[in-house]
Amino acid sequence: MKVFITGGAGYIGSHMALSLLDQGHDVVILDDLSTGSKNLIPSKAIFIEGNISNLDLVNKILTEHKFDAVAHFAGSIQVEESIYDPVKYYQNNTVNTLRFVNLLSKSKTKKLVFSSTAAVYDISKNIIIKENNRLNPLNPYGSSKQMCEKIIQDISKSSELKFFILRYFNVAGADLKMRSGQISENSTHLIKVCVECALQKRKLVEVYGNDYDTQDGTCVRDFIHISDLISGHILALQHLIDGGNSDICNLGYGIGLSVSEVIQKVKDVSGNNFLVKIGNKREGDNPYVVADCNKIKSKYKWQPLHNDIETIIKTSLNWEKSLLV
Ligand SMILES: NC(=O)c1ccc[n+]([C@@H]2O[C@H](COP(=O)([O-])OP(=O)(O)OC[C@H]3O[C@@H](n4cnc5c(N)ncnc54)[C@H](O)[C@@H]3O)[C@@H](O)[C@H]2O)c1
Repeated sequence: MKVFITGGAGYIGSHMALSLLDQGHDVVILDDLSTGSKNLIPSKAIFIEGNISNLDLVNKILTEHKFDAVAHFAGSIQVEESIYDPVKYYQNNTVNTLRFVNLLSKSKTKKLVFSSTAAVYDISKNIIIKENNRLNPLNPYGSSKQMCEKIIQDISKSSELKFFILRYFNVAGADLKMRSGQISENSTHLIKVCVECALQKRKLVEVYGNDYDTQDGTCVRDFIHISDLISGHILALQHLIDGGNSDICNLGYGIGLSVSEVIQKVKDVSGNNFLVKIGNKREGDNPYVVADCNKIKSKYKWQPLHNDIETIIKTSLNWEKSLLV
């Protein structure tokens, strides 16, 4: 297959490109390098530097190549930033996706895999989240993604566009062959922050609240290894290319680990101690965010292979070490 990847110079998009190329498929990447890096782009991919809002450029790419499908990862992803700069999120995520998907629906490429997030859900109760859970995002990032979902669904109803929306939980870890990983500076992703502390790139990790109604008082999250996340995308692409209907699935493991447990695991795996500061609770943080991933397992036969926090931490640590040299 030939796949058009937006945001392919970023963390998740570059892993998608690597996986497709490893399987002998063709990849064209469009990325404006705002948070991504040329270093993450696989050499065998065709890379075009540009913004998805440049519709002339997108149109040219869609016309010049005969794509089987599009995987749309480009977007802004920091929850905290979205609270003080919501316009950036509604512009780059929602408005740009609206214009991009509108163009796509009128092109010859009518199959779209879209990156969404657990942040679209109403997570007011400590329950494992199914796809039919009520949606009620608590921050502009989540809202911007929920709006994208709605736009994609509505455009699909009025055109031949077929979509597969994947709602990710906490994505972590790095490519097992160390060809890609997280590079973002000032990351807010817990495992990245912890491995940076373990390698003395950061002074401390701050825990946002330790009196939640959870086993040890810290928030509980569902961490999924990037390679398993990508295998879910490959199934979604294949499903659409085989003529399947549009769908929405969670991607997580259905296993909750507390922030304190993860910190301790990073200390154990790295063999290094580091400072932990207990800070205030953050606005909009939910105590318990864990996926029910039975739908993608049963309906699409998704089989996670790296469902193990040690593997996630080891790959993350090794990737971070590789950035030091
Ligand atoms: N990382 C996670 O844990 C997580 C969780 C849920 C959902 N997601 C979603 O996955 C997608 C990818 O996230 P990521 O972690 O790889 O982030 P990332 O920042 O590493 O990658 C995003 C990529 O998109 C590019 N980009 C941004 N805006 C663009 C634009 N307008 N035009 C062209 N390129 C643009 C950036 O340069 C970057 O390479 C995002 O849509 C995000 O919302 C990520």
